[in-house]
Amino acid sequence: MAAGPEGAEGIVVRPAEEGDLPELLAIYNHEVANGTATYDLEPATLAERAAWMAAHDTGEAALTGTHPLVVAALPEDGRPGGRAAGYASLSPYRGKGGYAATVELSVYVHQDIRGRGIGTLLMRHVICLARANEGIHVVLSVVDSANAGSIRLHERLGFVEVGRVREGARKFGRWLDDVTLELVV
Ligand SMILES: CC(C)(COP(=O)(O)OP(=O)(O)OC[C@H]1O[C@@H](n2cnc3c(N)ncnc32)[C@H](O)[C@@H]1OP(=O)(O)O)[C@@H](O)C(=O)NCCC(=O)NCCS
Repeated sequence: MAAGPEGAEGIVVRPAEEGDLPELLAIYNHEVANGTATYDLEPATLAERAAWMAAHDTGEAALTGTHPLVVAALPEDGRPGGRAAGYASLSPYRGKGGYAATVELSVYVHQDIRGRGIGTLLMRHVICLARANEGIHVVLSVVDSANAGSIRLHERLGFVEVGRVREGARKFGRWLDDVTLELVV
């Protein structure tokens, strides 16, 4: 990926579009193969990620929907709307009706351009969307306990740890603990 300018200047957060799917798939599958941000063990297919995207609010609907999917776009790439270099989503949290006002946040930034504030930008954007949405009361994130950067990022934005599952998942031949962080909006 073209590195672009240092820092997050020029990066625009906008609603996801169908054309972002290949970049979003590549960003996610890099973490499936190399990290513990996701406990998926097998790479997602384009069809699976298309279904995931379809379960979110994209385009104009991302501005007011309860399950927005937004991307951080690199405008210097020349593609209309810019190429997606990261994304954040607020996904449905469990299917039961009582959980309808709770959403689960995910945030991923392309591995080549981390540490420049793009994750912070994406998080701030979806938190603003959540605060503006009367249908959302709680934002949860489930983060691997070893992901200190992500946990710090969440805490800096007001999230509070509300629980831990010890050895609830297994990846790369070891047991993993996850941490649930909550923001009441
Ligand atoms: C977590 C993640 C989204 C942060 O995105 P980012 O653009 O690197 O974030 P920022 O530049 O805004 O920095 C946020 C924090 O990340 C950490 N960070 C800095 N440089 C980093 C780097 N090169 N790689 C990873 N994390 C870094 C920092 O600790 C920073 O916090 P600090 O400013 O208090 O030190 C990104 O590392 C990522 O996509 N990781 C893989 C997926 C993941 O873990 N998602 C979160 C769980 S759902």
